Amino acid sequence: MDASQLTAQEFEQFQALIFQLCGIRVPENKVTLLSNRIRRRLKGTGAVDFQAYLKLLRSPAGRDEREEFLNVVTTNETSFFRTEKHFEWLGTTFVDELRERARLGTHPQSIRIWSAACSSGEEPYTIAMCLAENRHKLTDWKIEIHGTDISETVLAKARAGLFGPDVATEVPEKLRARYFHHEAGSSCWEAKSSLKQLVTVSNHNLMEPNPQKAYDCIFIRNVLIYFSRESKQIVINHLVHSLAPGGYLVVGPSEGIFDMLGMLQKRSTFLYQKA
Ligand SMILES: C[S@@+](CC[C@H](N)C(=O)[O-])C[C@H]1O[C@@H](n2cnc3c(N)ncnc32)[C@H](O)[C@@H]1O
Repeated sequence: MDASQLTAQEFEQFQALIFQLCGIRVPENKVTLLSNRIRRRLKGTGAVDFQAYLKLLRSPAGRDEREEFLNVVTTNETSFFRTEKHFEWLGTTFVDELRERARLGTHPQSIRIWSAACSSGEEPYTIAMCLAENRHKLTDWKIEIHGTDISETVLAKARAGLFGPDVATEVPEKLRARYFHHEAGSSCWEAKSSLKQLVTVSNHNLMEPNPQKAYDCIFIRNVLIYFSRESKQIVINHLVHSLAPGGYLVVGPSEGIFDMLGMLQKRSTFLYQKA
């Protein structure tokens, strides 16, 4: 197997493919990192070298492998209640505002939230807990939380509502008891059906428009940092299109898009609203 490090030409070929598949522009100084990660997939597929692997990825038969490939070149790191203030806002100001709008007759009794690039589901399930905690204020309201990601591997976990031992440290005890099943001694935590029924997940590439109905709030966090500026603009246009009038965009601290949101009204450092 001849695969120590990508040549400059191979790096460019993989860089172009990654950009085409998901909008991420891998910087030139990441050649060693990218080589190491791709080498893992050479072992996994039996491809004899980088060129053979590239050929597989580009072929129609490489569909499943393209998924594995994106899994090794992107990060799926996530956690419950990541950047807590976003969820404090959601469970208080946001809910109260929608209730007030519903009282005035300018909003239906429904909440639709999109967790865009949701990884294994910690973000949409945190959103679900925040809204479930407000159920007493939202009797008869329809609540829909939609998580999407480009990776089927992480989506399978989100879809199952099964989580690992991090639940014990990331989710407050009161909420763990209320919303998760857990057998003593097990490292597995399963979301209860009261939570699962609020969350749906599906595969979606942020570089494409989302055909679903408009959302009252969209979370876009910890994903756009490695996208090129051109890709970020495409994603932002799709997200803004998917926001209902008066809907909010919750932006992660490292997206690098704060200067690209001029079409929205800035409400705070992380929060933007469609007029
Ligand atoms: C670091 S995780 C962030 C998860 C969550 N939003 C959070 O803040 O904890 C980034 C996720 O973005 C996904 N991703 C990368 N490129 C994408 C694209 N073009 N479309 C949809 N998801 C993408 C990855 O598969 C990964 O699960």
